[in-house]
Amino acid sequence: MVDLLLGLQWGDEGKGKIVDVLTKDYDIIARFQGGPNAGHTLEFDGIKHVLHTIPSGIFHKNAMNVVGNGVVIDPVIFKKELDNLEQFQIDFVAKLLISRKAHLILPTHRLLDAASETAKGKAKIGSTLKGIGPTYMDKTGRNGMRVGDLEFTDWKEKYRALADKHEAMIAYYDVDIQYNLDELEAEFFEGVETLKKLTFIDSEQYIFDAMAAGKKILAEGAQGSLLDIDFGTYPFVTSSNTTAAGACTGLGVAPGKIGSVLGIFKAYTTRVGSGPFPTELFDDAGATMGRVGNEFGATTGRPRRCGWLDLVALKYAVQINGVTELMMMKADVLSGFDTIKVCTAYHYKGEQITHLPYNIEAEYVTPVYTELKGWKEDLTKLSKAEELPAALNAYIAYLEKELNVPIKIVSVGPDRLQTILR
Ligand code: IMP
Repeated sequence: MVDLLLGLQWGDEGKGKIVDVLTKDYDIIARFQGGPNAGHTLEFDGIKHVLHTIPSGIFHKNAMNVVGNGVVIDPVIFKKELDNLEQFQIDFVAKLLISRKAHLILPTHRLLDAASETAKGKAKIGSTLKGIGPTYMDKTGRNGMRVGDLEFTDWKEKYRALADKHEAMIAYYDVDIQYNLDELEAEFFEGVETLKKLTFIDSEQYIFDAMAAGKKILAEGAQGSLLDIDFGTYPFVTSSNTTAAGACTGLGVAPGKIGSVLGIFKAYTTRVGSGPFPTELFDDAGATMGRVGNEFGATTGRPRRCGWLDLVALKYAVQINGVTELMMMKADVLSGFDTIKVCTAYHYKGEQITHLPYNIEAEYVTPVYTELKGWKEDLTKLSKAEELPAALNAYIAYLEKELNVPIKIVSVGPDRLQTILR
């Protein structure tokens, strides 16, 4: 069976930390979608690490790590990631396996991302500009380059043909994008040489064999359900299926082989980049969440927008993914609020609704809130469920009742140790 770990909001829920906490129970950690737009932060032994493409099991002695076919890989960023981990003396050749079917992000994909965003002006998506959209466009357009191509001698010709086409497309956008392609290519070819030293596999076969051998596999999602290309707040989304079904196509796992679906959400909501966000706060409460929660993008450093928990959107994510267990992150950030608000319905086109409508832009949707009592206690030193303040327990019980799924973990700080099991 393959268990899934998914973000249920707009990303940055804390998946990296939880995978790291859970890895000891799994033999294999696999990424199935997204690319270096993700930034999975792990903190232990007083050190903070941010991973972009490499699965979060890399720090555990016994876990194998698979980058699945649904992922897009930028060899330049990948090399940097490996270089940053040099001090840990990890045997990457043995522990990190790359799907031959994963697509490659070319330097010109990044340039196309920038050109497309610039051309959009005010309507820009707020992309991380890592070339994600253009790479998935080439994948579905059947023009892309895959990791497996690097094992054939004609890969540089394929590269050239695609990069030339991209240059013509960049010119079409007619925007002022400055670049030195020779420099970018030198960096890319260097990254490719590093990538080629790693182990390329037919990852779907690897996963079939591992399942047959009774291995425990955890598929680690990136981004969040509301950034899903189909079910997210389109067009302000990423270019892959971040929801449960994405793990089936991004790894080659049959739906019947999915076991537990672990859904992660923050005790409040954040969003980085553009797009609708009904519970967004523009007041002191939002600023406090941002400050206490250190809400800055792990990949881009951009400040994250903050707001109260949106239960309408969270319910939708629980349903789309078939979540079986919930994990509430950053509960400690809400300490000190007199009241905690939860959005339980929307005013939409003159009606009160409790499902997610087609368009949740502010001009159509106004959140309807339920208020709960806040708590003052500092949670960051707590380690047992019995120590949680009564008002937080009431908040948890309320959410469990509304979502009809148990909350099994409450996280009270970034460190591995600040994790309370219920
Ligand atoms: P892209 O995937 O880089 O094109 O970005 C598309 C949208 O998804 C933008 O709003 C990004 O801010 C957002 N996004 C992409 N990756 C992440 C992530 O890992 N966390 C949060 N937001 C993300």
